Amino acid sequence: MLEKSMELIDEEGANELLQAQTRVWNHALAFINSMALKCAVQLDIPDAIQNHGKPMTLSELLAMITNKTARLDNLFNEAMASDSALASGVVMKKCKGVFEGLKSLVDVGGGTGVMAKCIAETFPTTNCTVFYLPHVVSGLQGSNNLKFVGGDMFESVPSADAILLKWILHDWSDEECVKILQQCKEALGRNGKIGGKVIIIDMILGNQNWDEKSAETQLFFDLFIMACVSGRERSEKELANLFFAAGFSNYKINPVLGVRGLIEVYP
Ligand SMILES: C[S@@+](CC[C@H](N)C(=O)[O-])C[C@H]1O[C@@H](n2cnc3c(N)ncnc32)[C@H](O)[C@@H]1O
Repeated sequence: MLEKSMELIDEEGANELLQAQTRVWNHALAFINSMALKCAVQLDIPDAIQNHGKPMTLSELLAMITNKTARLDNLFNEAMASDSALASGVVMKKCKGVFEGLKSLVDVGGGTGVMAKCIAETFPTTNCTVFYLPHVVSGLQGSNNLKFVGGDMFESVPSADAILLKWILHDWSDEECVKILQQCKEALGRNGKIGGKVIIIDMILGNQNWDEKSAETQLFFDLFIMACVSGRERSEKELANLFFAAGFSNYKINPVLGVRGLIEVYP
């Protein structure tokens, strides 16, 4: 079929079609112009070039704006920390029992440690570890029962009675989520340990009869996450498929965090 229609197009027709295709792509992607301009302004690129006073190389420009990018990192970490302050308070009020009796807990991708700090303070006999990207945890101070460890969750996760994944899975594709969960399962069972659990805080699509605004917020998040990273928001069934694919046997949902839920997942 494709070959037949290609035969009907002469060389001039083909060129016209290709030009038309380029025009359509140009229209569809024209927003990138204003996006690039916005980024350039936010990174103070025009000022950096102006202040340099003469033509500058790309590496000179990069050196001048580098601290503006590490700043965007801080903004993200602060936003996450502020959410964790609210979420940890609510979780301790509504389902504190989930964390009772744990000797150890690792908060994987736990940012600056707000959630783990709250758990460590509420349960002084639980040894808490924040496991996060090395460049973020390197300057952070622990306390008696809280420490920061740098590493990569795709390589290995420290062993513990419980592993917390707060707002982690929605950043990743199904295949990547299964890999993360497999690392968690391996860490729970390391050195012949039996039991333990993974505690997941994430959005659960369509799990309750949400009002219109809440359902819309979930969908906004779904589109936002899909556009920014390789992940997505998931329904209970889609999450359960990931748990079982990674070798877990059971789970329990605690619907305590608004449009998100706290899920206990058992080996
Ligand atoms: C959406 S944030 C959630 C942070 C924190 N759990 C919270 O809820 O406040 C996901 C975090 O996972 C971290 N992360 C990404 N890749 C990672 C990896 N390979 N190992 C450990 N952490 C990682 C990111 O830096 C990011 O800050």
